[in-house]
Amino acid sequence: MIDIKNVSKSFGTKKAVDDIRFQVPSGSITGFIGPNGAGKTTTIHMMTGALGIDQGEILLNGIDIAKDPIQAKREFGLVPDSPDLFLRLSAREYINFMADIYQIDQSLRNQRIGQLAKDFQIESDLDQPLSSFSHGMRQKAIIIGALVCDPNIWILDEPMTGLDPESAFLLKEKMKEHAQKG
Ligand SMILES: Nc1ncnc2c1ncn2[C@@H]1O[C@H](COP(=O)(O)OP(=O)(O)OP(=O)(O)O)[C@@H](O)[C@H]1O
Ligand SMILES: [Mg+2]
Repeated sequence: MIDIKNVSKSFGTKKAVDDIRFQVPSGSITGFIGPNGAGKTTTIHMMTGALGIDQGEILLNGIDIAKDPIQAKREFGLVPDSPDLFLRLSAREYINFMADIYQIDQSLRNQRIGQLAKDFQIESDLDQPLSSFSHGMRQKAIIIGALVCDPNIWILDEPMTGLDPESAFLLKEKMKEHAQKG
């Protein structure tokens, strides 16, 4: 459950998010749409603790991201809007880095990495640096980095951008499967 309670954020004099409120119940998939510059990414940055909140509060499974950030961060995995991160790491190193942060046991993570890499068809590229990846391949590596941790809440900012149709379909199926678990 994500609970956004009357949240506002300004950059200087510009109000990027103005008194937004909505809830995402557990077991649901909710899309968050709006024109470019509407404040979607800014809202995600506040949800995930990357940006401070000017007014209001955000609870992730009942945990306040501003008051208890470490505990709240354990609840979600994030796919940011740009996959151009950690480019000097190989995909496997990046995914392991994410799994380290979430303290995922070695054998469990290896099993998940094997399965996800096979599902998203990047098995043969896992040991190549992300800098050598195409946009869609980077996107897949970032998605695997989030899913390998099996977070309760998935927060995805434009996750389909750059994915081939098969991978986009697969991600949609994985989202449905996860929502059904509640
Ligand atoms: N770090 C920042 N400094 C100043 N202004 C910012 C900053 N980040 C975002 N903004 C402004 O806040 C507004 C909302 O931006 P945001 O990135 O949240 O939009 P968005 O809905 O995600 O758009 P898009 O669909 O293009 O991804 C925009 O007017 C943007 O210029
Ligand atoms: Mg955005």
